[in-house]
Amino acid sequence: MGSAARKVPLCIPDMGDDEIAAAAEVIRSGWLAHGPKNHDFEEAFCHFLGVKHAVSVNSCASALFLAVHASGIKGEVILPSFTFVASANAVVTGGAQCVFADVDYETCNLNPAAVEAAITPRTEAIMAVHYGGQVADMEALAKIAARHKLLLIEDSAEAIGATQGEKKTGAWGLGCFSFYPTKNLSTGEGGMFTTADQALADKCRAIAGHGVASSTWAREKKEKPWLRAATYAGFNFRMSNLNAALGAVQMKKIEPMNAARRKHAASYNLKLNKDLFDLPVERPGFTHVYQMYTVKAKGFDRTLFLAKMREKGIGATVHFDPAVHTQPYYAELAASKVPLPVTDRLTANILTLPIYPQMSEDDVAYVAEHANAAAAACRT
Ligand SMILES: Cc1ncc(COP(=O)(O)O)c(C=O)c1O
Repeated sequence: MGSAARKVPLCIPDMGDDEIAAAAEVIRSGWLAHGPKNHDFEEAFCHFLGVKHAVSVNSCASALFLAVHASGIKGEVILPSFTFVASANAVVTGGAQCVFADVDYETCNLNPAAVEAAITPRTEAIMAVHYGGQVADMEALAKIAARHKLLLIEDSAEAIGATQGEKKTGAWGLGCFSFYPTKNLSTGEGGMFTTADQALADKCRAIAGHGVASSTWAREKKEKPWLRAATYAGFNFRMSNLNAALGAVQMKKIEPMNAARRKHAASYNLKLNKDLFDLPVERPGFTHVYQMYTVKAKGFDRTLFLAKMREKGIGATVHFDPAVHTQPYYAELAASKVPLPVTDRLTANILTLPIYPQMSEDDVAYVAEHANAAAAACRT
């Protein structure tokens, strides 16, 4: 099946004529910086998630930083080490301290019992990371947060549209989303901050725009548009009108794009050899949106396996190794001395296979066939 020249990359963003037309419209309008498309994108995002406020920014890293910084958190934040380093970076650069808690091997998400055990008098927030498209157990985490009066931050970079019960990620706590090209919805670079708190949304919007409460676009309609009064010491975390235009188009396709990912995941689940791979588990009551299709290696050499997959033109890779607590900056911190056995085991075994909406059934079959063969050939 397939020729040697065949390529199945890890991911291709699902962009087409509608995104090209939207980008062209913005370029012709001459309004390239933060502008009216941000409003359109934010409105559509609020509607999709069922949240009150959404602030478009230039990355999820910025949204996470805003969540910590604008909330004034200076104490401990409990988060997984099994995540992309941006989650932890936001805690540290926001002026707070990381406390790493272990995750569940099946879902790769925070273990609520480990979170509860990590709470100290200095704990101020829990940062849940929804790994690879599946929501962390937010019902349990929200109960813990309420019991201990902690703020709940959601790193929803990898789980746009994923649900637990009826509720989507970013609707439980302070939501932080990424629109990097590997994500379920892309704007090239980009992010979104969501909250039910109007005052916090206004503060984040201002801090993201040099500390000035109104944007240039909004001031255009005012009598004295030149008045720019900073109410905070701010940054420039704004998303451009061009990126927002892409986001507004992508919002219209998010449900079919997520449905296509789920279809491909179901197909992988049927085709992969269960003696060689632990497959992803969609827990009852949860909807997984498969930002990544990750499996765990069972008894074969992962490095050799990945080399064999690359030879076949397949963009299989690893998310995440090394875990944050072992990365040079974080390894020095006290939080990293706590044992995280499940995280360590996952880090050693996890594997990501290609998944994106436009994959064909034949692409999935090609990857699965070569994954089964490569794993069998690399048994330890
Ligand atoms: C869990 C997680 N958090 C944060 C980020 C950072 O997103 P961005 O590149 O938009 O800053 C990513 C992106 O890879 C991620 O996977």
